[in-house]
Amino acid sequence: MKVEQLTCNIGAEIVGVNLADAIHDDGLFAEIRAQLLKHRVVFLRDQDISRAEHVAFARRFGELEDHPVAGSDPDHPGLVRIYKNPDQPIDRYENAWHTDATWREAPPMGCVLRCVECPPVGGDTMWANMVVAYERLPDDVKAKIADLRARHSIEASFGAAMPIDKRLALKAMYPDPEHPVVRTHPETGEKVLFVNAFTTHFSNYHTAGRVRFGQDANPGAGELLRYLISQAYIPEYQVRWRWKPNSIAIWDNRSTQHYAVMDYPPCHRKMDRAGIIGDKTY
Ligand code: SIN
Repeated sequence: MKVEQLTCNIGAEIVGVNLADAIHDDGLFAEIRAQLLKHRVVFLRDQDISRAEHVAFARRFGELEDHPVAGSDPDHPGLVRIYKNPDQPIDRYENAWHTDATWREAPPMGCVLRCVECPPVGGDTMWANMVVAYERLPDDVKAKIADLRARHSIEASFGAAMPIDKRLALKAMYPDPEHPVVRTHPETGEKVLFVNAFTTHFSNYHTAGRVRFGQDANPGAGELLRYLISQAYIPEYQVRWRWKPNSIAIWDNRSTQHYAVMDYPPCHRKMDRAGIIGDKTY
């Protein structure tokens, strides 16, 4: 197994490995897991594996979860189909920097994404290292956000275009959990900047120390949240991956954000994603 680092801060390509072997080979799986923790997203090419093998490999990390809005493969529960085709309206394409499913109390620990079909050019995915994004914040910002918490909403994202009854039912199932703005990575102990496109507002900003008059609360909190969310956009924290059929990305969802670049319509793009259940944040 060879590991080629792709940027200074995030991402590596693993060469010379067949992921199907890692389903049964504990040593190989442990090495892949170690590389994932080190590089936060790892990539492999030419993984001509079946959907059952995709699920079996991802299951080595933990139980899988379906998505309440994006459809799963009925024959392979836990395998979410992210299929785009030219008939879909362009504004339904996904392209915001995000950590997957932070609208869950326990967001996924990671994902295994396989490219089934992609355009000849375009449709890349980018990832950002949110540990480095936290480390490089100015000290005064770190002090300001140390105890802040924020709400994350499926209602305001996946639910926004739904009829009101469906939107409220979705919110009743996933009632905007609160997460720390600076999360501790449960395996490495690193601090992670943990706000993204699903984050709507800070839930404990409005204290006497921060707000002199009520007028201070919304602009102060809004500007700070926008600034923090924008840290994922910094190119020095990112890696960009060009897909080919049977390429695979495995990412640590606790320490990264990602962005699927929407520059390819009207082409087809089909991705199968196995999301692995994660821990409650602290
Ligand atoms: C995702 O956002 O989880 C999928 C990324 C992609 O389709 O490239």
